[in-house]
Formats: sequence, structure tokens, C-alpha cells
Amino acid sequence: MTILAELSDVLGARFAAAGLEPALGAARWADRPDLAQFQCNGALAAAKAAGENPRALAERIAAALRDNPIFADVSIAGPGFINLTLSDEALSARVQRIADDPRCGGWASADPEKIVMDYGGPNIAKPLHVGHLRSAIIGESLKRILRFAGDTVIGDAHLGDWGLPMGQLITELKREQPSLVYFDPSHEGPFPAEAPIDFADLERLYPLASAACKADPERAAEARAATAELQRGRAGYRALWRHFIALSRAAVERDYADLGVAFDLWKGESDADPLIPAMAEALRAKGLVEESDGAQIVRVAREGDAKEIPPLILFKSDGSVLYGTTDLATIVDRVNTDNPDRMIYVVDQRQSLHFEQVFRASDLAGIFPADRLEHIRFGTMNGKDGKPFKTREGGVLKLRDLIDMVTERAQARLAESGLAQDYGEAETQAVARKVGVAALKFADLSNQRTTDYVFDLDRFMAFEGKTGPYLLYASVRVRSVLARAEAMSGAPAGPVAIAEREERDLGLALTAFGDVAREAYDKRMPHLLCDHAFQLAQTFSKFYAARRIADEPDAAARASRLSLARATGAQLDLILSLLGIDAPARM
Ligand code: ARG
Repeated sequence: MTILAELSDVLGARFAAAGLEPALGAARWADRPDLAQFQCNGALAAAKAAGENPRALAERIAAALRDNPIFADVSIAGPGFINLTLSDEALSARVQRIADDPRCGGWASADPEKIVMDYGGPNIAKPLHVGHLRSAIIGESLKRILRFAGDTVIGDAHLGDWGLPMGQLITELKREQPSLVYFDPSHEGPFPAEAPIDFADLERLYPLASAACKADPERAAEARAATAELQRGRAGYRALWRHFIALSRAAVERDYADLGVAFDLWKGESDADPLIPAMAEALRAKGLVEESDGAQIVRVAREGDAKEIPPLILFKSDGSVLYGTTDLATIVDRVNTDNPDRMIYVVDQRQSLHFEQVFRASDLAGIFPADRLEHIRFGTMNGKDGKPFKTREGGVLKLRDLIDMVTERAQARLAESGLAQDYGEAETQAVARKVGVAALKFADLSNQRTTDYVFDLDRFMAFEGKTGPYLLYASVRVRSVLARAEAMSGAPAGPVAIAEREERDLGLALTAFGDVAREAYDKRMPHLLCDHAFQLAQTFSKFYAARRIADEPDAAARASRLSLARATGAQLDLILSLLGIDAPARM
């Protein structure tokens, strides 16, 4: 049980004994840590409802708590706040449990779910760009946070492999190499196992194709026709398209791996395609499909909508399908294959309306209930000009270049700080990559996800302040303190016995993790873990500056402090792993 849950239970029982709602006993961390550790505001609300004096009511509740040995102090402040401070014995016992717990005092769900999480969305042929970066970083962390709580999470990359860009690529390649067997309509197969081009070709072809289609309506019509033929199943186009997917997947999988992001499923929009006819039939049978200007639509607006929600377009007038159609059919596919309790989409908030339409259509059609479909939205990473981040040349920065850039910058910072310099070329390089990626990921995750933030590598890379490098450094430092203590004979860790202020603060910080893990889970907000990790690292620094550890002459105090340090290191490392951040062994 988390500390707040436990205190709320203790307080709730006192409210219940006074004939009041137990929920009034909700405990929280004190607003004034100089006065108390925890507080409860329930007496104010209860007194208001009962027309009683709140201080008098608070005093009655407090009186009943004072002989509970878990508290060192229970007092009333202001108009009727109940202020609470734990006894050192109670805090020590709790911290001991955290020190002994492989989960470091983390919260676990009582009702674990099976969840499909969609947090990739890279598009075939286009390199992964920073627009996909936040999906991957936030999604990977949420996947780990949910798994830690006990959920079974299936991560799906959900490749964008089915739209017009596919036809554009096919027709562009046909211009360059018309004699390839894939373009011979009479050839039914087999087709070569080896791709006729490589990924660099693919990256080169796509911008050419998209520019040509923009400039020339004839080329655009050709690309549309090729897309339709591909979707209808023309053998040569299908074979070529499978090469495109394989080349792209290999490239993006490597980029994701460098970011510490891994998917369980590599399905794509195309996997939903075969399910579309039957799905459309079922929607028609329910009377949900209407004809509008030749297109077939599903109306999803509701009375009382604050803003207009346009209908979901199932088929355009030429019969082709859109993003909403494939996303709806993907829900059908996920129900059929994994039958999860919930589906979570970690996607840019600019796609909110799209998901609203899809979720409503799914609900109306009885495919999957909307209250179990979550769009976990996030803001954009902006440049210093306040617009979505671009390279200096004005293009979208590729993920690969971004990783190289942060690694290079980290290398320079490490050299300036004299860190990780004597380990040999390979390790120094590996540490730089970890520090660079940690800086990037932590900077992204530490912002409340729905806010935009500015890409500022110098700030991300600082070794002081709430940054990835600071936390990696803190984790490495705790480990070196422990290693040094272990090297000194006669310094084993032992029972936690909190007696000094810095020990108490560190114990409380360790204790806070359970509720933080729970709130991060409930709200799908990784930044709460970033805040906690930073706070824990800082509290440890103060503890370490003020108190001796390995060379403390009192054996019991030394053993207790070693346990505190070990628990801190373990919790810090656990949180880094929940954030998807890989810490170097040394730096
Ligand atoms: N491929 C899309 C894009 O690049 C993102 C897909 C997100 N997932 C989804 N199920 N719609 O914008």
C-alpha cells in the first residue's frame, strides 16, 4: 500500500468513527513541509456540510489519532487542517520495506489489463523524423510504466504502409527503371527475393515522387491509379511494395533501437485492409452509413457537442479508403487478434479530431467501446522560433541525424567536465551516446506531455538542474559511494534506523515513489516520475553532503545509511528504466 493510501485509511477510519464519510480522510503531502510531513483537509469539508466548527471537528479527529504510534505529531493548523508527522520508527519500517522490495516500493494495479499500445506510426519510405520522436519516447515510457503496474502491454509500430505514397513510389520507380519485372502486367510471379533498390533509393525517390505529383496532375493521376491497383492486389506491385516495407522497417527499427524503443508487433495500416469490406457491410446493416456527394460517411456528431465533429469518411467517391477507415478497421483487427481490454494511441495532439471521430464510430458500431479507447496526446517539440522543430536548412530533421547530433554534443560536454575520458575510444563513445539520448529523452519526458517545448540542446545537456545527464550522473555516483563502502571492510548494510533530518528527508523521498508511480499510471504522465527522480537525487546529495556513510564510526548508523543509499540507487535506476533511459555503468 502506498503511504497516502495507508494514511488515508487510518484517517478515514477516524472520520467513519465520527459518523462521517471515510473519503474525507484523504491524506496528501503537506503544503508546508516545514510544519508537517502530511496533511488532511477533510475536516473543513465535513464541518461545512454539518454546520460545525471545522477546528473543533479537526480536533476531535486529531485527538483520536494521537495515540497511534505511527505518528510523532498530530496538530491542527489554520481553519482546520490536520497536520501529520510520522514517527521515526514508522518511517524506518516503511523505508525498510522499500529497501527489501525488488519493486522499490512501487505501486501495482489491483486490476491489471491487457492493452494494445500504438506508439509508432512511421511511414514507409519516409525516414523517421522528430514528429515521430515524441510518440516513441513517451509511448515507450508509458508502456514500461503500465507493465510495471502489472498490465500486459502489446506495443504496435503501426506502420503507415497503405496510402497514396505507395502508388507515388511505384510510379516514380517505374520512370527510372521501366524494365523491372514488377511493372510487367502479364507477369504473375514469382518475383526476385532481392529488392531492386536500397533504402537510400527509397529516401531519394519519395521526395521526387511527391514533388512531381504536386506539380503535374497527370503524374498525380498515375500515382492514384497505381495505388488503387496495388490495393486491388496487382501481383508485381504487391511484390515491390513488400520490398519497400522490408527496407523501411529495417531502417526504422535500427533508429528505434538506438533510442531504446522496441515494438512487439510490426503491423501496418495495410493489415486492416482485408477487414474493410465486412466492416463496412456491418456498419451499413446498422444503418450507420450515409451517402454524401458520392462518398460514404458515418455521422458521429452528437447533440451538445461543444464544437462541430465532422462525419468520418469511410469511402471517397472513387471508392478509396482514408486514414479513418484504416484506423477503424485496425480496431476490428486488434479485437480479433488480441482482444485487449483497452487500446491506447500515443499520437500528436493535432490528430485529436481524427481519433474522436474513429472512437465515436467504433462505439456506435459496437466494435469496441469508446471509453476503452484512449488518445494520449502530446504537444510539439518546437524550435527557438516557436514553430515545429526544423533543421537549419529548414527541413524536417531526421531522427538518425538527431541521434548523431546529441551524441556529438554529449561527447563535448563529457570532455569539458573531464568525465568518461580514460575508458578507451569505444566506451567513451558508448557513454556519449547514452548521455546524449538520455538528455534528449529526459528533456522530452520531463515536460507535462500536453505542453509544447523548445528544443535547446545546451539546456538538455547540462550536468546541473533537471536534466538527463544530471540523473545519470546521480545514479553513477550513488553506485560509486556504495562500491567504495563495500570495498571498506566492516561496512555492511543493515537495518534502517532514521534519526537525523537528512535521513528523514531521504526516507520520505523514497516513500513518495509509490504514490508517484500510481499517479503517473493513472494520468499517463511520465513527467511525474522525472520530477520524483530529480527530487530523490537532490535529497540524496544533501544527505551525502551532511552525513558520513562508509566512514561513520557508529556501526548501526553506518549500516542504516548504507541501506538508505542502496535503496536510493535502486529506486533511481528503476525510474530511469521506466523512463526508457539506459544508464552507463560508469562515467
Ligand atoms: N502514420 C501516422 C503519421 O505519421 C501516425 C499513425 C498513428 N497511429 C494511428 N493508429 N493512427 O501521422
